[in-house]
Amino acid sequence: MTKVLVVATGNPGKLREMQAYLANSGWELTLKPEELEIEETGDTFAANAGLKASQIAQATGNWAIADDSGLQVDALNGAPGVYSARYGKNDSERIARVLNELGSEVNRQAQFVCVIAIANPHGEIFLQSEGVCRGVILHAPRGHRGFGYDPIFYVPEKQLTFAEMTPQLKRSLSHRGKAFTALLPQLALLSPES
Ligand code: IMP
Repeated sequence: MTKVLVVATGNPGKLREMQAYLANSGWELTLKPEELEIEETGDTFAANAGLKASQIAQATGNWAIADDSGLQVDALNGAPGVYSARYGKNDSERIARVLNELGSEVNRQAQFVCVIAIANPHGEIFLQSEGVCRGVILHAPRGHRGFGYDPIFYVPEKQLTFAEMTPQLKRSLSHRGKAFTALLPQLALLSPES
């Protein structure tokens, strides 16, 4: 029996990224039906990932996987957090808003967080995994790779922003990479009949 896992996203880029992480997991990933839109109404990453996985699983009658992620800046009490994607109209506006709110604050510590949830066809959350990557917010963007807040997120151990890293290096230390690495051994043990 093929182990189908519906990805709770309408974004083909995210599907490709998940396929890369889950390449040898024995599951076949498919995109969620376009008409199924799930609103992210939770106030934590875990709540939103759970909500998306659970509702897509129930609606399709398959296992489903969802992730929710964002940037938390210590001196902004964790903002933009679950509002990371909605913090401005586009990436440069979102970056400008974070830099503006931080101003000349000296504490520039921050973290990216990613929570992944997997739900069974009844909509029950079966697995959940979290990955965190700590870093520092620069005063101005650096680098042209990646997406979102990558150009202002600096990782001191590598002396690079996420936007200056190769995709392989970013995957090896990013919040999303860590969450998937933690999830893989558990997913391999899971039978679709569970
Ligand atoms: P999601 O698709 O609801 O998980 O939205 C996450 C948002 O957080 C994205 O739109 C980005 O703004 C931000 N974000 C999450 N992960 C990253 C990352 O790896 N680099 C840069 N921004 C990220």
